[in-house]
Amino acid sequence: MPSNLLREPLRSFRPYVAGKPIEEVRREYALNGRIAKLASNENPLGTSPMALAAMRKALEEVYLYPDDSSFYLRRKLADKFGLEQDNVFVASGSVEVLELCAIAFLNPSDAVVTSERTFAIYELVARKVGAQLRLAPMIDGGYRYDMQGIAARIDDRVKIVFLANPTNPTGTWFTRDEFDQFMAKVPQDVLVVYDAAYEEYTTVDDMPDPLVHLRQGRRLLYVRTLSKAYGLAGMRVGFALGPVDVVQGLMTCRFPFNANLVAQAGAMAAIDDVEFVRRSREFNTAELDFLRKGLAGLPVTVPPSQGNFLLIDTSKDASWLFVELQKRGIIVRPMGPYGLPGAIRVSPGLHEDNERFVASLRELLAGPTGSLRPPPGF
Ligand SMILES: Cc1ncc(COP(=O)(O)O)c(C=O)c1O
Repeated sequence: MPSNLLREPLRSFRPYVAGKPIEEVRREYALNGRIAKLASNENPLGTSPMALAAMRKALEEVYLYPDDSSFYLRRKLADKFGLEQDNVFVASGSVEVLELCAIAFLNPSDAVVTSERTFAIYELVARKVGAQLRLAPMIDGGYRYDMQGIAARIDDRVKIVFLANPTNPTGTWFTRDEFDQFMAKVPQDVLVVYDAAYEEYTTVDDMPDPLVHLRQGRRLLYVRTLSKAYGLAGMRVGFALGPVDVVQGLMTCRFPFNANLVAQAGAMAAIDDVEFVRRSREFNTAELDFLRKGLAGLPVTVPPSQGNFLLIDTSKDASWLFVELQKRGIIVRPMGPYGLPGAIRVSPGLHEDNERFVASLRELLAGPTGSLRPPPGF
């Protein structure tokens, strides 16, 4: 029973469900050996060594409050992207930016547009503040954003459009041409939140350049994270580049000291570590290829991905797969909460983990020839 203590929009609210931690799965299934966590799009190569060194040094100073304005990090990012410091917002992970967009800019009478089957946080932040949510169905087999459908849902009530590119969990992307055509249809006063959490992993050459639109004076917020290719997920640090009024709006609503002292030091060093990002991208591309080839011949659909994960869609209930993989010490992400109950999402781990995943999935989906049969009806 929802408590009447909660604000009205929160009474039917279901919070974000994160990937399962390793120790929880170890306890639940009494596992002793290695557990492969392939559930949360983390970097299997670890953390940028330059960031690690900077954070070790910064630990000596944690008796002090951090720089509340993240001055040096914002200046560094402004220089890197050719913007002013007032165009840069630093956050405790990019989810903080997304949440603050809702808190700072949305009235309950406003509407938000995004796609179905995209990053769950967009829907959750809109619901938290009681704004209306409009979801455009996906196209191309139900795995890709329909940019025209998203644009068609924008009217006077719409204040924010949330877009992830590449998108999570399907891994698909929209191109520069598609985005430019989309922006031409979006009214100037609508805020377009362009979430590029997986940008460092992309290898195609037709990805949009959100900075072009920002420099043209569009109300666009370009959101980035240090959690993925830089390997800083546990530190919680991200940033956003946008027009001064949007950045000021976010500043108004953030917690004081939102980016902690160690995270600021880690991020300062990580963004210079181009070698680590290059290595992470190359490793990811090779392992995605290995996984995709390993799944060949199985009764699954795997949309093309430019992220550090693959969506594996069995088109039938896949919750049993998630459980059986856990029993074998492999944690993937069930996709029911994303409207894809037949799918799991897997992020490449180290090569041996990926080999183990492919072998286990093949065994589980092989039916009567495998040691374990799928449940009736699968
Ligand atoms: C599209 C997208 N945006 C943002 C995030 C959150 O990243 P952060 O760790 O910076 O909060 C994720 C994480 O999975 C994501 O998939």
